[in-house]
Amino acid sequence: MSDIAKLVINGQEYEFPVKVGTENEIAIDIKSLRAATNGVITIDSGFKNTGSCESKITFLDGEKGILRHRGYAIEDLTKKAGFLEVAYLVIFGELPTKEQFSKWEADIKRHSLLNEEMKNIIDGFPKKAHPMGMLSSLTSALTAFNPATVDINSEEQVYGAITTLMGKFPVIAAWAHSKNQGLPLNYANNSMGYIENIMQLMFRIPTEPYEMNPIAVKALDELLILHEDHEQNCSTSTVRIVGSSEAGLFASVSGGVSALWGRLHGGANQAVLEMLKDIQDDGGDVEKYINKAKDKNDPFRLMGFGHRVYKNFDPRARIIKNAADELFADLGTNDPVLEIAKHLEEVALSDPYFAEKKLYPNVDFYSGIIYRALGFPVEMFTVMCAIGRLPGWIAQWKEMRLNHEPIGRPRQLYTGEPLRAFKEFDER
Ligand code: SDX
Repeated sequence: MSDIAKLVINGQEYEFPVKVGTENEIAIDIKSLRAATNGVITIDSGFKNTGSCESKITFLDGEKGILRHRGYAIEDLTKKAGFLEVAYLVIFGELPTKEQFSKWEADIKRHSLLNEEMKNIIDGFPKKAHPMGMLSSLTSALTAFNPATVDINSEEQVYGAITTLMGKFPVIAAWAHSKNQGLPLNYANNSMGYIENIMQLMFRIPTEPYEMNPIAVKALDELLILHEDHEQNCSTSTVRIVGSSEAGLFASVSGGVSALWGRLHGGANQAVLEMLKDIQDDGGDVEKYINKAKDKNDPFRLMGFGHRVYKNFDPRARIIKNAADELFADLGTNDPVLEIAKHLEEVALSDPYFAEKKLYPNVDFYSGIIYRALGFPVEMFTVMCAIGRLPGWIAQWKEMRLNHEPIGRPRQLYTGEPLRAFKEFDER
């Protein structure tokens, strides 16, 4: 493999260094391009061919359907580790020892109380405000309640900001859910594990004892592990670019929450359930919706299908599909919407359109069905995705800051009007 790439522009040849990653991915380093060519830039809408950084956190192979965190296969992590253990790995780079994990868990619990004045912000939201809008605002509000800027070179201050966010984020998410449902706000219970605590924060009502369902806890733990990080996706890239201006961790993650909300990204899990319910209400006519998805004149897309990186199965979708089967078997229930999803997947995967465009089910195709089985309303599906993705946002923000990456500021190609003289009102 040559360690240089050559580019010929207006007959002149330019050379650029080639970088090779751990898994033999190849990147052309064009940081000298503009200076060397007197102003030439590249353009790549949506960054489909452009890397924004080097990272040691997550490796994806879209062709082979591989996902690893710090070298560990996602299949192993979901089977053998817990959400908070994987969060430690993603953020600090190694699986924790028993002592490290106990300290990590205890330090997070220390931050599980929200400032009571946060309730004034919650009260200010309209009754049925979407929980993602509340989550983004309240995450940003953490900066107001924890104003000390974090010195990125102080391991102690960075660790404090990380454990603060890991402790408070699920509580904020639960308060957004309770507000949306018109229910009283719950407090964390530090005698419980992280996932158990999320379940009681979300579903406990003061008039009844809360009965923890270990099957539900196991399913949620596995589901959240599958969301922990996914290299430079839209919301993570947002966290990185906001943080690159030296904005704090809470403000950067608040930006990530807003980016995740979009229906093409984390909002897809809510859109999938709405689509499946439309198909169910429409008599389960799966073929009709497959044809709509294939029709260039129809804006309808098969939500939960397709991926920018995976041109093979999303490994997370396989794991989630099995988890859904196990959960329903364990709960002794069934969800007709799951059957519609499986039928839709079967018909789509046997259709040349989806095969040619390499469109397979992604992480969002089945996740909403599990969230629904666990009792979450559809408006909370993307919030749960955010709780899962938080460790990745933190890890990527920390890596970017510790690498002292420059402020993100892309170039552009101007295609507007050339210089023109100003016109007074009566000349227009
Ligand atoms: C997530 O990046 C990440 O890692 C994201 C994520 C993470 O963990 O962070 O994995 C989480 O966001 C998963 C994706 C959730 N979104 C959806 O399920 C929404 C439905 N899918 C799409 O809109 C789409 O597939 C994207 C947004 C996911 C990817 O879009 P791309 O890579 O920009 O591809 P594209 O829109 O250019 O589509 C390529 C072709 C087009 O046809 P042509 O113009 O070439 O003829 O495939 C078609 C598209 O029309 N196509 C679809 C389709 N997705 C793409 N056609 C029908 N249904 C779909 N779902």
